[in-house]
Amino acid sequence: MVTVCLANHKGGTGKTSICINMGTYFAKKKVRTLIIDMDPQGHVAPGLGIDIAYNDRSIADVLANQEEIAAIVANSSIKGLDVAPSNIRLSLVNETLYNTFKRERRLMKAMEKVYNDKTYDLVIIDCPPSLGPLVENSLMVTDYCLIPCEPSSRSIDGLADFIIKLKDVRDGELDDRWHIILSRVKKSARLTNEVIDNKLSEYKNRIFKTKIYERETINQAQIAGIPVFGFPRGQLASENFSKFGKEVASRCQIK
Ligand SMILES: Nc1ncnc2c1ncn2[C@@H]1O[C@H](COP(=O)(O)OP(=O)(O)O)[C@@H](O)[C@H]1O
Ligand SMILES: [Mg+2]
Repeated sequence: MVTVCLANHKGGTGKTSICINMGTYFAKKKVRTLIIDMDPQGHVAPGLGIDIAYNDRSIADVLANQEEIAAIVANSSIKGLDVAPSNIRLSLVNETLYNTFKRERRLMKAMEKVYNDKTYDLVIIDCPPSLGPLVENSLMVTDYCLIPCEPSSRSIDGLADFIIKLKDVRDGELDDRWHIILSRVKKSARLTNEVIDNKLSEYKNRIFKTKIYERETINQAQIAGIPVFGFPRGQLASENFSKFGKEVASRCQIK
């Protein structure tokens, strides 16, 4: 089993959209996939057409009450793609974690069972836009960290801060198992894209060759609660995510 997290403390960089569509890509390739939503905003389940209410069991119960992940998992309509959903109760748990001993190891405990059960080949973790305990928990259990980054100056400046956090939490253990994804790239903004490529030159080897382009259908599919694969007029976005999925498989050793 391989664990990959999508993380960046900046919001709106495409983390959740990538989780949903990358999860779908791998499930369609018969890679048994679980997406764990660690963001109290809980956008993964609705993005896959799954309703989740305030009192429904969620990853909040795993972190707070040591519930098993298997007990809170919901099946999506895509064969081979499950979700450990989140809801707003996770934000209350997040507050209590600040004062908890070994606060960064709550998810690790629950993940041991997932490893042993061998139900999944791939676990994708959707992180919240923060540097707090929920992100620390995610970084502690992951084999690979993917950092989606928008092509803007502010986004790139924040990248260095995130990389410091990543190295700090894992004490350098992740070596080179972290990668940057340029996401929400506007094809027409040629000059901006050139400037950004130059700004990122120090990370040259860490950047995905495949960029995720800004496409209206990605947003529309998210609103409709389905992945882009099979979404009306979603052909170009699907091709983009397929190419991206292939590169994820190669960089993160997913078979
Ligand atoms: N490549 C894209 N093209 C168009 N819209 C996108 C794209 N990626 C994300 N979005 C939209 O932007 C918003 C934020 O994206 P999201 O994936 O939720 O980011 P994050 O999880 O990093 O906060 C959502 O409304 C989403 O549908
Ligand atoms: Mg998100």
